[in-house]
Amino acid sequence: MPPRRIIIDTDPGQDDAVAILLALASPEEIEVLGITAVAGNVPLPLTARNARVVCELAGRRDIPVLAGCERPLGRALVTAEHVHGRTGLDGPVLPEPTMPLQDAHAVDFIVETLRAEAPGTVTLCPLGPLTNIATAFRQAPDIVDRVAGIVLMGGAYFEVGNITPAAEFNIYVDPEAADIVLRSGAPLTVMPLDVTHKALVTRPRNEAFRAIGTPVGRAVAEMTDFFERFDKAKYGSEGAPLHDPCVTAYLIRPELFSGRFVNVEVETVSELTMGMTVADWWGVTDRAPNATFMGGLDAPGFFALLTERLARL
Ligand code: RIB
Ligand code: CA
Repeated sequence: MPPRRIIIDTDPGQDDAVAILLALASPEEIEVLGITAVAGNVPLPLTARNARVVCELAGRRDIPVLAGCERPLGRALVTAEHVHGRTGLDGPVLPEPTMPLQDAHAVDFIVETLRAEAPGTVTLCPLGPLTNIATAFRQAPDIVDRVAGIVLMGGAYFEVGNITPAAEFNIYVDPEAADIVLRSGAPLTVMPLDVTHKALVTRPRNEAFRAIGTPVGRAVAEMTDFFERFDKAKYGSEGAPLHDPCVTAYLIRPELFSGRFVNVEVETVSELTMGMTVADWWGVTDRAPNATFMGGLDAPGFFALLTERLARL
């Protein structure tokens, strides 16, 4: 089976970094056509920097990295330095990138790539707020039908919110963009907190990263050591939740995940529940299903895959 050809849209973020590394370590299953940065965990200049830092850590200066939207469609940017640190990639000391950003805007790259490639051959993998994706769909509605699928990290239902009582960060930052994507009709697979909170970097798992004994293994151990603080303090978690790597792991071994094809919509009006994703998990409405919403994870299998692949870099 040929590799899935993907565009990673991202706001690195330590967990984004691990997701990108997993993708770049898996050329049999994934071909990364480009990485588009969006404002989210930290402002755009830093997410665009961090995406290149990660590519260089993986020895992949060839990957096109492009900067996208610097703020949400209709709201002020909310960032998450309290989770990811001032740089967004706190933890390891990594060199400043020397590879350049591409000149084109990320949104134009998304549009032009989808128009240039055969329909149904490019998968979009958003790991941050959906601003770039929604802007591309608004700018070029014709590309929606050309998308093979969207596998995104975002939302929550049973797990409720991590940035507010009701909302998960990626959706909360740009609920208007999330609404456009959820209503787009593109085939959607959603990795909400319901599943990503089962991908916890416990101490033995962190030690397994460190035991790889390479710069990548050490960097991932140091990244997850740093960004576990927030979830440990808030939830009493056993370690950092690897939210975004659930997206790229799904492309490699979908059988690690389980979920339901249900209707998922997002709150865009009430400030009380702004950005809340409402999943009709029990089928109590007549709203048409639009997304495979994940809830189950084979965590040992996930970490075995991740550790084995990171050791390849
Ligand atoms: O809520 C978790 C999500 O928000 C992850 O994608 C993390 O990187 C942040 O973007
Ligand atoms: Ca992210």
